[in-house]
Amino acid sequence: MTAEEFVAALDADNQLRLRALEPDATLTPEIDGPLNVPNLLKVALKNEIEATEIAARWLVTTDDVQVKLALARQVGDEARHYRLIAERLGTLGIDAGGLDPLAGGFGPLFTYLDGLATTVERVAAGQFTREAIAVVKNRQFIAFCERVGDKDTAALYRDTIEPDERFHHELGRRLLLRLAVAPEAQAAATAAARRTLELADELQKKALATAGIHHAPGC
Ligand SMILES: [Fe+2]
Ligand SMILES: [Fe+2]
Repeated sequence: MTAEEFVAALDADNQLRLRALEPDATLTPEIDGPLNVPNLLKVALKNEIEATEIAARWLVTTDDVQVKLALARQVGDEARHYRLIAERLGTLGIDAGGLDPLAGGFGPLFTYLDGLATTVERVAAGQFTREAIAVVKNRQFIAFCERVGDKDTAALYRDTIEPDERFHHELGRRLLLRLAVAPEAQAAATAAARRTLELADELQKKALATAGIHHAPGC
C-alpha cells in the first residue's frame, strides 16, 4: 500500500470505530446531578495538560525537525486551551488556579502514549487518532453546552478549541504520509491507532459507569 492509500484506509477505519464513541445510539444524555459544564471543564483541564505534556516529551526525543515543529505548535495550542478553559471556569465562579488536574497522576491513555517508542506510532496514536477522537468528543460537548444554555462555553469550543484539534489531526495526517511508507511502519501505526481507540472507549465506559460522564471534551 502507498502511504496515501494507507492513511486513507486508517482514517476510514478510525471513523468507523469512532462511531462507538458517539453515545446517541445507546445513551440518553443526562444533565442531572454532577454532570454540568464546570465539572466537564475540569475533566478537560486534565486532558489538555496531558496533551501538552506528551507533545513536549515527544518533541525532545525526536530528531526529525518537521515532527519537532509540529509538536512544538501542539504544545503551545494545548497549553493555550488549558488557559482558556481555566479562564472560563473563573467566569463560572471556579478558581482553576487552585486545581491540580495531575494530582491523581497521569491517566492510562497518557501512560500508553508515553510508552510508544517510534515516531510513526506516536503520530498515528497521539495526533492522527487522539485528535480525531477529540473532534468527536468536542462536537458532543458543544451540543451538551448548547442544551444546557451555556453559549459562551459552546462558542469557546466551536470557534477556538475545536479548529485547533482538527488542525492537530491534520498535522498527524501530513506526518503519516511521510512516515507510514514501509509495511512495518504501517502495521505499527495501525496497532497504535487501534489501541488508542480501545483505551478511549474503555475510558469513556469507565467515566460513564463511575460519574455518568459521556460528554467530556477531548484535546
Ligand atoms: Fe487541546
Ligand atoms: Fe489537540
